[in-house]
Amino acid sequence: MFPKNTWYVAATSEELTDKPLGRKICNEPMVFFRNENEQVAALEDFCPHRGAPLSLGRICAGKLVCGYHGLEMGCDGKTVAMPGQRVRGFPPIRSFPVRELYGFIWVWPGDPLAADEKLIAQPIWHDKPQWAYAGGMFHIACDYRLMIDNLMDLTHETYVHADSIGQKEIDEAPCKTSVEGDHVATARFMNGIQAPPFWKMALRGSELADHVLVDRWQICRFSPPSQVMIEVGVAHAGQGGYDAPDESKVYGVVVDYLTPETDTSMWYFWGMARKFKPNDAAMTDAIRNGQHKIFSEDLEMLEQQQRNLLRHPNRKLLMLNIDAGGVQARKVIDRLIAQEQDVANTLA
Ligand code: FES
Ligand SMILES: [Fe+2]
Repeated sequence: MFPKNTWYVAATSEELTDKPLGRKICNEPMVFFRNENEQVAALEDFCPHRGAPLSLGRICAGKLVCGYHGLEMGCDGKTVAMPGQRVRGFPPIRSFPVRELYGFIWVWPGDPLAADEKLIAQPIWHDKPQWAYAGGMFHIACDYRLMIDNLMDLTHETYVHADSIGQKEIDEAPCKTSVEGDHVATARFMNGIQAPPFWKMALRGSELADHVLVDRWQICRFSPPSQVMIEVGVAHAGQGGYDAPDESKVYGVVVDYLTPETDTSMWYFWGMARKFKPNDAAMTDAIRNGQHKIFSEDLEMLEQQQRNLLRHPNRKLLMLNIDAGGVQARKVIDRLIAQEQDVANTLA
């Protein structure tokens, strides 16, 4: 259950080298490659000759060459050449709108005529020297919506991430969910608390005292189809919290681009953009490694949860007030899917 007339992150720019990359997105097996000008193309991963996956082939002078019998495909899905054969008249295979922006490859799995580059939101850290960004990617065997629930309800940090970012005050501070159009936000503010280990490290790294009480915030922002940007930070207590001046706080954005692979699996592009010590490469590495460990803890929980849900598809689940962010985000997704179906029915 996912909208298809929308952009999803298919890969990071670094992933796409001089080899084709096969990746299933929204149940569509796709192959991504770069042409001679380094521009990215996305085709269905299916050779029109005998159906071999094109992702097993290679790139030659900007053309994708099938690894089975050497059929050459252009970026537009048209067959270009094959040794000793006339193939120009073959019908083209499906190509998908694709863009490379902000360090990611974005693909539009739905109606190509509806694809609009302007719908790709520019990330806050892009082109800003005061910000640093680093991240990674996980394949997770769960419905991407379980990950949205996870990210829109950070009470789980107290239990799943007890050693790094979790603390009991998260549980104790009520969260507030608000909806504006297709955007959902869940905010939690914890004032006058001890900073957990991650934030102590960030304070020390920014030459700020780490043993004093802090005001901590987490604002989870969902945007369709499946992005969750989480504003996080701490300020020395009593300095204004979220609105404290930059000299007394450390903050950043936990970046989550979720891309459905199938109905029960996803590609999770995660990262952190921070507005402190942007040029400190050692800190960038430490945060990336820390996040890798933290998100591995979620991965384990989510995959097991998905297995449980598949075993008990009709079981009713409990809904608590901490679930409001995920519930509202799912409503937005359901509405977008219904709109797509309405358009498809009108055209049928
Ligand atoms: S299957 Fe691709 S060239 Fe034969
Ligand atoms: Fe988590």
